[in-house]
Amino acid sequence: MRDETLWWEGESLFLIDQTVLPARYEVVECTDVERLARAIRRLEVRGAPALGVAGAYGMALAARTSRETSLPAFLAEIQEQAGLLKKTRPTAVNLSWGIERVTTRIAAAGSVEDAQEVALEEAHRIAREDEETCLAIGAVGAALLPDPCTVLTHCNAGALACTRWGTALGVVRSAVAEGKEVQVIACETRPLLQGARLTAWELIRDGIPVTVIPDSAAASLMRRREIDLVLVGADRITVDALFNKIGTYAHAVTARYHDIPFYTAAPLSTFDPLRKEWEVTIEERGGEELRTCGDWQLVPDQAGVRNPAFDATPLPLVTGIITERGVLFPPLDMSRILSP
Ligand code: MRU
Repeated sequence: MRDETLWWEGESLFLIDQTVLPARYEVVECTDVERLARAIRRLEVRGAPALGVAGAYGMALAARTSRETSLPAFLAEIQEQAGLLKKTRPTAVNLSWGIERVTTRIAAAGSVEDAQEVALEEAHRIAREDEETCLAIGAVGAALLPDPCTVLTHCNAGALACTRWGTALGVVRSAVAEGKEVQVIACETRPLLQGARLTAWELIRDGIPVTVIPDSAAASLMRRREIDLVLVGADRITVDALFNKIGTYAHAVTARYHDIPFYTAAPLSTFDPLRKEWEVTIEERGGEELRTCGDWQLVPDQAGVRNPAFDATPLPLVTGIITERGVLFPPLDMSRILSP
């Protein structure tokens, strides 16, 4: 079993298949962009920072599998493959960020061979940076956690959502590494159960106490003062809103009502400071994710279903954003985020 969520070996990108955890640990090999695009759409790889790294390696795959020998034709193919990958999931900004970082390097290359080399080099750099960034976020965030404390989290913002360590769960890991006593309440995260399946799996692997609850139990636990702090990841942070897994907004409203701190942890690559909430596309996933659970039919055929994968939480409901450069408190100073 590897510590990394995704890694490059030979001429392929390998991913832990997150659709079959916790029942099975399986690895998917992506030898071309088409297979990676399928993996992203199916959530075999998922979580904003991991999508950034996957997108970067996707462009390395595109460069290395291209049969074009003339530079202009090669660059046109790269642009087409970049467009294909970006369209797989629209909400997490890290995906297009990772793709663009590599395509910018490719565009500046002097030859196809040079482009193939720099693409992989840049993808490796993005993967390394992700780990360093998560450790920095962990160190910043650990100081905010009381000792002992109970943290409520939603979805999975852990090692599986990054290359390793994690953002929100990285904060928990760093606090535990510092000797703090932290236990996690993981919301199951309907309909794909990233909390129940993935957050619980990786915390157990690390020996951190975790209890899974139905999403609908969060409010009642907050009312009973069983939660000290809510801590989630982020798929995109605009000038006015935090985008994260559907259900996050409800936790933020409830936390504010009960005077419980609500934090998000995210790298600066998750910020989209030039856009506003209404300019962001919220991914709507297929109705079959709600209609069935394995062989079990959950919804009558005649009923309509809606399956938005993310929601937007207005930033005034967020106590602080834990980044690798420190904690940002809304309202955001965009010049600080945009400066190198
Ligand atoms: O649909 P998913 O599983 O990709 O959604 C992931 C989340 O909402 C995470 O909370 C977010 O990407 C932050 S991961 C560090």
